Order: sequence, then structure tokens, then C-alpha cells
Amino acid sequence: MTSIAGLLAEAKRRLQDSDSPALDAELLLCHVLGKPRSFLFTWPEREVDEVLAAQFHQLLARRISGEPVAYLLGRREFYGHEFLVSVDTLIPRPDTELLVDIALETLPAEDSLRVADLGTGTGAIAISLGLARPTWQLLAVDYVVAVLDLVERNVRRLRAANVTPLQSSWYSRLQGPFDAIVSNPPYIRANDVHLQRGDVRFEPRSALVGGDDGLDDIRLIVSGAPARLRAGGLLALEHGYDQGAAVRELFHAAGFQSVETRRDYGDNERVTFGFYGARDAQ
Ligand SMILES: C[S@@+](CC[C@H](N)C(=O)[O-])C[C@H]1O[C@@H](n2cnc3c(N)ncnc32)[C@H](O)[C@@H]1O
Repeated sequence: MTSIAGLLAEAKRRLQDSDSPALDAELLLCHVLGKPRSFLFTWPEREVDEVLAAQFHQLLARRISGEPVAYLLGRREFYGHEFLVSVDTLIPRPDTELLVDIALETLPAEDSLRVADLGTGTGAIAISLGLARPTWQLLAVDYVVAVLDLVERNVRRLRAANVTPLQSSWYSRLQGPFDAIVSNPPYIRANDVHLQRGDVRFEPRSALVGGDDGLDDIRLIVSGAPARLRAGGLLALEHGYDQGAAVRELFHAAGFQSVETRRDYGDNERVTFGFYGARDAQ
């Protein structure tokens, strides 16, 4: 039998290629033991049952081969809520919380607004907005059937009664008008070397790649938004760190006003937003 401290020390040594070997090891061991992280530090000498140690070693081997921790645990935190994740879609990223902040900051809190989250994945954006604004109605849109099952499960677990999953390829089955459209669409270039590195190697291309220049889906979403937005409606889109200027140009060409790009935690341009028509008409 091996102790908790012994398993962690071995795992940290074998996870040297990870950006966060200690954290990865602790999260995997907590998952197998069904205990919080504080348990590991309180009982480092405690012996771990052989069956559980074998489960831990299996997860460790998968992590060493590069599988994201979130896929191994089946969950990831976003905007203070725990979301189930699956290999059918993207693992929510901290930078996407900026998109949620912008919607909460720019839209009236008390009104009964209709908001669409296009390419919802786990439902992270739609559900975070729905929980923060109970009077809003959120449509969580994705075209992958398995993704919509995942959204349903997250809606139930997090009790986001005002979020409705909908299968649609972008606007194909959407009935406007909306007060806001938000989206973190696929925006990586098809030949981007980052697709061969880190967690994205395990995430589906359907969630990542937006054509040769990465902007195919963003073009469709921006050009289709005016016909689906109320006067003064908000469009807010996440994009690549080097796509801000191109996305602002698309917003202006489509008639959006007060167009602005905000930077993420790493100081990269990350979310562009604007309003269609006069804002005080909302
Ligand atoms: C970058 S992921 C974002 C997931 C989630 N919103 C998040 O921020 O974590 C893009 C999502 O868009 C979805 N998607 C791709 N093409 C689509 C389309 N034509 N119509 C609707 N959703 C699409 C993918 O299935 C994926 O879930």
C-alpha cells in the first residue's frame, strides 16, 4: 500500500510536462478518493486502498499522455459554477468569463430580456447569465446533438430554469428578435500550430476551427445578427488574440455602433461587442 503523500510525490515527478503537475496530481487523487483537497493535506500519511491506487494510476497515465484534467474529471468550474464537460465540446476557459461580464454590465438587469448564446457547448455562458439574471430568457444553441444533451444535464444540475437548449446551425432555426446575441464560436485557423499542442489536441475540431482565417463562423454570426436583434440590441463575440481589428471591421460593416474590444486576463484582445441601432431604443 502507498500513502497519499507517496502517490502525490510519484505523480508530480511523472507529470513534469504539465504546466501544473502538483495541482493535476491533487485533483486526480481527490477525484478517485471522493474527497476535497484539504483531505490530502490533513492526512498525507493515510494509506490508499490498492483498487483506488490502481484507478489513480490509470488516470495519471492518461494525463501524462496529454488528456485534459477536465475531461478526466468530467467537470470544470466556470463563473463560480461547476459544469459537466464531455469530449463532444470545448472545455470552458476562464477568458470567456469576460463575455459574461460584458453582457451583465451592458444589459438592463431587471427586464425580461431574450438572449441567445450561439455555440453554447457545455452551456457555460447561457447558464451563467441565466443564474445571474433570473428575469432573462436564455436560448442555448448548438448544432451537435450530444452537446445539447450535455446542456440539458447542466441546466438541471444547476437549476437554470430560464435556459432552453435548442439545436440549430447558427440562425437556421432561431426565431428573433433578441435583445442580445452572445457567442464564443470556433475561431482558430485551420492550419494553426496550436491545434497540435496541449488540451486542444483532445477537443473536437467542430468547437475550434473557423475556416482558413478562423473567421468563417464569426462572419456568419455578425452578418446575420441585425435581422435577429431588436433596435439597440447587443452582439458580443469572443475571438482570437489577433482578430480584434478584423472583427471590429465586420461589426462596423454590418451597421453596429459603439463597437469596442475588451482584453482578457493575459492582456490580449478577446471580446468585441457593439449595439445595433440606437441604444436608448432598447
Ligand atoms: C469554441 S466552442 C464554445 C463552447 C462554449 N460556448 C464555451 O464558451 O465554452 C464553439 C461551439 O460552437 C458549436 N458550433 C460549431 N459550429 C456550429 C454551428 N454551425 N451552429 C451552432 N453551433 C456550432 C460547437 O459545437 C461548440 O460547442
